[in-house]
Amino acid sequence: MKITRKWAMPNKWTFTMKPIKELLERYVGDGTGWVDPFAGNNSPAKIRNDINKDCNAQSNMKAIPFLEQFEESSLKGILLDPPYSPRQISEHYKKAGLKPSQWETSSGWGAKIKDLTASRVQLGGIVICFGWNSMGLGKNRGFELIEVLLVPHGGAHNDTIVTVERKINFK
Ligand SMILES: C[S@@+](CC[C@H](N)C(=O)[O-])C[C@H]1O[C@@H](n2cnc3c(N)ncnc32)[C@H](O)[C@@H]1O
Repeated sequence: MKITRKWAMPNKWTFTMKPIKELLERYVGDGTGWVDPFAGNNSPAKIRNDINKDCNAQSNMKAIPFLEQFEESSLKGILLDPPYSPRQISEHYKKAGLKPSQWETSSGWGAKIKDLTASRVQLGGIVICFGWNSMGLGKNRGFELIEVLLVPHGGAHNDTIVTVERKINFK
């Protein structure tokens, strides 16, 4: 398992930060077969969704019903760059003219997103998670960790932490 640490200025558009952009180029290529339920504006995935209609995405669903549309074990790769905290969830929903339920700002919501992601990726497929921890989907969902990228931003900022995992088991 490879761990790398590369500094970058903080940016709310995660995928514009140079070390992250470079990692995505290595794994996602032209984006064929890749799905991004939280696409924002800079996702290389071919199939993109974002709750906010102003974002660069083909659909504007909530992430859970969006992921539920795909057949189990059908996708080559999924990018998971959701809001990183309950506060960020509330801010993103507000921008989209919505209000999150209590459950949508809980850890149960994050776990449901990970469960669905794990089930939709094919065996050998890749999931890349972004956030403030390196948990990713984990062994219990059938994944092995193949790469971690730490992106420190200086000052009091949290690092952005990227995990790259491969599906090795059906759970
Ligand atoms: C961290 S940003 C993604 C940034 C993106 N990776 C980029 O670099 O352009 C998270 C995105 O998730 C969207 N979002 C938040 N909650 C969502 C939900 N429940 N379902 C779908 N999209 C959601 C927000 O509108 C926001 O664009």
